[in-house]
Amino acid sequence: MKIIAINGSHRKGKNTAALLKTVLEEAAAHGADTELLELADYNIKHCLSCNKCLGKPQCSITDDDMPAISEKLLAADGIVLGSPVYWANVSTLMKNFMDRTRWMHMTKNMLAGKVGAAVTNAGLTNGGQETALRIMEFFLHAQGLHLVDSRDHDGPIMTAGVASSLLADIKDGKPVWRKSALEDEAAMLACRTLARNMVKLIKALA
Ligand SMILES: Cc1cc2nc3c(=O)[nH]c(=O)nc-3n(C[C@H](O)[C@H](O)[C@H](O)COP(=O)(O)O)c2cc1C
Repeated sequence: MKIIAINGSHRKGKNTAALLKTVLEEAAAHGADTELLELADYNIKHCLSCNKCLGKPQCSITDDDMPAISEKLLAADGIVLGSPVYWANVSTLMKNFMDRTRWMHMTKNMLAGKVGAAVTNAGLTNGGQETALRIMEFFLHAQGLHLVDSRDHDGPIMTAGVASSLLADIKDGKPVWRKSALEDEAAMLACRTLARNMVKLIKALA
């Protein structure tokens, strides 16, 4: 069982990476082979909207790193997307990545039947996490993946990946910041539950 995580943060190894690594660690503890892809490491050109993918499952851009990433997506059983919130949205890297997978969707859903999930983090509470999650989960759903969430239950449902924030509290009128998403205990717990839900569903579908 292979689970890959895609980090859309423009900062490698920071808060979004911490969430994804926690998901992958728990998945590995339950038997998965795992891999974290930091999109910041890759050269991904933007979609040209040439619409070649409307006629056949091909992308006209072949001289960047997207073909190699696409191979990993197609080989995976589970795909976890992670993005920081940028203006109540996903990051540019994550959006660019999503656009470039259109060829896997337009003539047939080549990622259909895999299991997907999303995690996000933001500076603020109510900082746009729900919107960013919805965007990633809409993408995964449109691509035909079965979504899992971060709640402790027995079946797949449609919503609610992991949302974390760096703002922990307001004390004496001043913000109290977490140094890392690792200090967001509820989010860490949610990452581990999401990982177990993903492993369970992949096994059930096998
Ligand atoms: C361009 C930009 C836009 C941002 N927009 C928001 C926002 O709308 N709401 C919010 O709470 N935080 C926002 N942030 C803060 C990031 O979500 C936050 O710093 C996050 O922890 C970054 O994740 P990373 O450590 O994985 O890079 C923004 C940061 C950047 C760089």
